[in-house]
Amino acid sequence: MRDKIIYYSKTGNTESVAKKLSQKSGIPIEKIVATSDDPNQMVATIVFAPSVKDVSFVIIGSPVHGFSLPKVTKAYLESLGDLTGKTFDLFVTHYFPFAGLGGKQTLNAMKKIILSKNGQVNEVISINWTSRKREKAIAALIQTLSL
Ligand SMILES: Cc1cc2nc3c(=O)[nH]c(=O)nc-3n(C[C@H](O)[C@H](O)[C@H](O)COP(=O)(O)O)c2cc1C
Repeated sequence: MRDKIIYYSKTGNTESVAKKLSQKSGIPIEKIVATSDDPNQMVATIVFAPSVKDVSFVIIGSPVHGFSLPKVTKAYLESLGDLTGKTFDLFVTHYFPFAGLGGKQTLNAMKKIILSKNGQVNEVISINWTSRKREKAIAALIQTLSL
């Protein structure tokens, strides 16, 4: 079983997926908190950074901002130390109908930071918030990440 769900959410979409996953799977959940959620801030200052020190299998969820990583998710991931021996599942929630309009780029950016710190990436999942199949996609995410 995964050890922890870590997420950032500005307007609640990613949070709702993370919480549903936690409720169904029993995996503990922690939110990344910054001094500001303003997407236009130059650099985000993190006030609560969930620890990955004593865990080895972690899920990280994030929204997409401006075709890439929100400043808060980026600052959090960059603040992590060496991730040798740790595996991550990544998911994003996004608005535009195609994952190629930000979802994929965000997952790739998250993956790049984790790999640069010697971590491993397992599942990468994007949830299109405007899709009619959204609830089905969330159910599939929960099934995949609850194992
Ligand atoms: C400043 C800003 C920029 C965004 N840029 C994108 C984008 O480039 N591509 C996309 O698909 N969605 C974009 N979105 C939509 C969010 O990624 C989407 O609504 C997401 O589900 C929000 O998650 P949250 O409620 O957890 O914050 C943007 C939203 C905001 C507020």
